[in-house]
Amino acid sequence: MRVGIIGAGTMGAGIAQVFAQTEGYEVFLCDINEELADKGKQKIAASLAKRVAKGKMTQEEADTILGRIRTGTNKICDSVNLIVEGSPEKLAIKKQVFGELQEIVPKDCIFATNTSSLSITEIGNGLDRPVIGMHFFNPAPVMKLIEVIKASNTPDDIYEKVIEISKNIGKTPVTVNESAGFVVNRLLIPMINEAVEIYALGVASVEEIDTAMKLGANHPMGPLELGDTIGLDVCLEIMNVLYTETGDPKYRPSVLLKNMVRSGKLGRKTGIGFYDYRK
Ligand code: CAA
Repeated sequence: MRVGIIGAGTMGAGIAQVFAQTEGYEVFLCDINEELADKGKQKIAASLAKRVAKGKMTQEEADTILGRIRTGTNKICDSVNLIVEGSPEKLAIKKQVFGELQEIVPKDCIFATNTSSLSITEIGNGLDRPVIGMHFFNPAPVMKLIEVIKASNTPDDIYEKVIEISKNIGKTPVTVNESAGFVVNRLLIPMINEAVEIYALGVASVEEIDTAMKLGANHPMGPLELGDTIGLDVCLEIMNVLYTETGDPKYRPSVLLKNMVRSGKLGRKTGIGFYDYRK
């Protein structure tokens, strides 16, 4: 099967790695220019090199996986059977990307989006085929879950095919009917938002909040460290979607979260968030 991955950032590269690690998949990793797409492949090469260094994979296996990945712009997707779109979390961008892709890919190519909270039905509105949600989690090569999100017009055969593909690449799919934030982000992001609020109120320090949730709830990462990893801009974007879609004040974004995003403190990607990564 040939899979086009749109967006070669952290998630796109991780998703490309997941597919390329499975025999029988050819991956077409795309971005707005070849340089960015190549950078995505370099991230995968670095991730595989770590596995080789740990003795978890041979160099030959790593080379085989990399050999299954072609990079370029969306134009290279002219023979793919599945698109997994991971472009920036803006409805207009996603609609534009799929609009361009429908002129490039074969007529029976499945359109899936890795959106973290936007309406799948709305993304597909106006296209020549429906869109389904295939929501991966960061880091994609490690996290076992895929939320398979049915839009209001997802045909059963496409849904069943995506479930089959998800299992085939070693993930566990969970079926979700379309709603703001789906399941995981509707639970996880308000928890991160609440952690920010607790910190803003001076209830506990950043480290204490994270230690409390790691040791008291057995979470692998504390909520503020996780927010830094996901990207505080992404967390804010998801809170905004939850708030505007439901109108429920319980989803109101923390003022501190807004201020951190405004000041460019987005977490790991900018070198500073609740923690300082520049050292
Ligand atoms: N890419 C590939 N592999 C990675 C990785 C990465 N970025 N980060 C860690 N790993 C691998 C390591 O190589 C290691 O592999 P082995 O066991 O084979 O050696 C394994 O994962 C465990 O890593 P570590 O021992 O270094 O560290 P850890 O045990 O603390 O695990 C973690 C790291 C898996 C990231 C863990 O801290 C964790 O699960 N954190 C929570 C992640 C989470 O909640 N993700 C969801 C975010 S929400 C989201 O993504 C959705 C959205 O729309 C916003």
